[in-house]
This record gives sequence, structure tokens and C-alpha cells, in this order.
Amino acid sequence: MNNRKGVIAIDGHSSCGKSTVAKDLAKELGYVYIDTGAMYRAVTLFAMQNGFISENGINESALKAVLNDLNITFKYQAEEKLNETFLNGLSVENEIRGLRVSNNVSAVSTIAFVRHRMVELQQAMGKEGGIVMDGRDIGTVVFPDADLKLFMTASPEIRAQRRYDELKDKDPSDTSIALDSILENVKHRDHVDSTRKESPLKQAEDAVLLDNSHMNKTEQMDWIMNVLKERNLA
Ligand code: DC
Repeated sequence: MNNRKGVIAIDGHSSCGKSTVAKDLAKELGYVYIDTGAMYRAVTLFAMQNGFISENGINESALKAVLNDLNITFKYQAEEKLNETFLNGLSVENEIRGLRVSNNVSAVSTIAFVRHRMVELQQAMGKEGGIVMDGRDIGTVVFPDADLKLFMTASPEIRAQRRYDELKDKDPSDTSIALDSILENVKHRDHVDSTRKESPLKQAEDAVLLDNSHMNKTEQMDWIMNVLKERNLA
């Protein structure tokens, strides 16, 4: 076991298991896990709560005026294996995962001043090392010198099938869950994430590609631990 506390950046497409890998890895290495998607979701919730988002779009100047006063923190709940997100001291973990926030977060995360502020906070959180951070721009923008960059993906069909199974598992009687519309949504999100102007999702040149289309969780973890050992991080 190595004592050096590094920075591990995990980027990749939606619904390919980034947060599960990031959490497992943080646990294995004794690092702190930071979910940057939750930070964009918390800003989105805040903007909605304050009436900054309407059918006419986002009131960017109002959001900009208060952004620096927003306080976003995390607390790890070991029992539930849950990384709880707090906005100005209040837990918002459930609200930020809901449909209303999910429908608005892409738009909020394209705003340049929001990204700059989030990157600043993320860099401050990771400056002492000992973190696993997942998102879309961690290896390219937030920590271009990360000790290890993983870029995760899986085929859109496989990601859609996994999401379908997950939803069906939660509510087997829900007949509104359809594989073809989930697949459409996965492809749409890939497109939005990869083509936006401000820090689009792309694999950093020095990132290691992990395509988990045909891996189970154990195979995936073994694969990652091997990479970590090669780099003297585990
Ligand atoms: O990973 P997630 O689905 O919780 O992310 C929510 C949204 O935030 C998603 O639209 C992509 C965006 N995001 C981003 O632009 N940059 C990050 N570092 C993390 C998430």
C-alpha cells in the first residue's frame, strides 16, 4: 500500500457507472469522493427555488449576483453508503435527484460563470489530494495534472438497458418505462454533453479508457486496481 494521496479524475458518459466506481475507489483507498454533478444540480435547485428559471429561460444576472454566497458541502453517510449533498447547510440530496432538477441542470451547467465557480470550488476541495472526483471535465479542466484519469463509457444500448433494469427493479408495475425512449434520452445527453461550447465532455489525451460494456463490477474493480498499482497509487 502506498501512502501518497493522489487525485483521481473520473469522466465519461452519463449512466455508465462513474459514481459507483468513484465511491468504491474512494472507499478502497481511504480517499474522499466528490460528486461534481451534484454541485451543478445544487446550483440548479437554488436557481429554481429563487425563481431564476422560468419558461423564458434563466435569469443569469440574478444567479451571478448570488453565486459566490452559495455554500455546497458533502457529508458521507457510512451506513447508507450515501454521499449527502448540502446546500447552505440544508440537505438537498433527494431534491437534486428529482426530475425537475434533472430537466434543468444541462442548461445551468452550460453557463460559463457557473462552471468557473464550480471549478474553483472543486480545485479547492482537491488541493490536498486524497480525492476521487467524478464529472465531465475533471481530467481536462479541473485537474489536468491528476495522478490518474479514467474515461468511462459503455455502448448507448447497454447503458439504456442498465437504466431500464434499474427503473423496472424499483417499480416493476410501471408500464411507462420504455427501453426505446430511455435509449433516445441517453443518446441525447451524450450529444448535449459532448457538443456544448463551455468545457465539453471529451477524453483527455492522457486518460485511460474504460469501456465497461462487457464487464461486471468485480472485473471492473480488478481492472482499475491493476491500473492503480501500475501507477503506484495502491
Ligand atoms: O453526473 P450527473 O448526471 O449528476 O450530472 C448532472 C449534470 O451536470 C449533467 O447535465 C452534466 C453536468 N456536469 C457537468 O457539466 N460537469 C461536471 N463536472 C459534472 C456534471
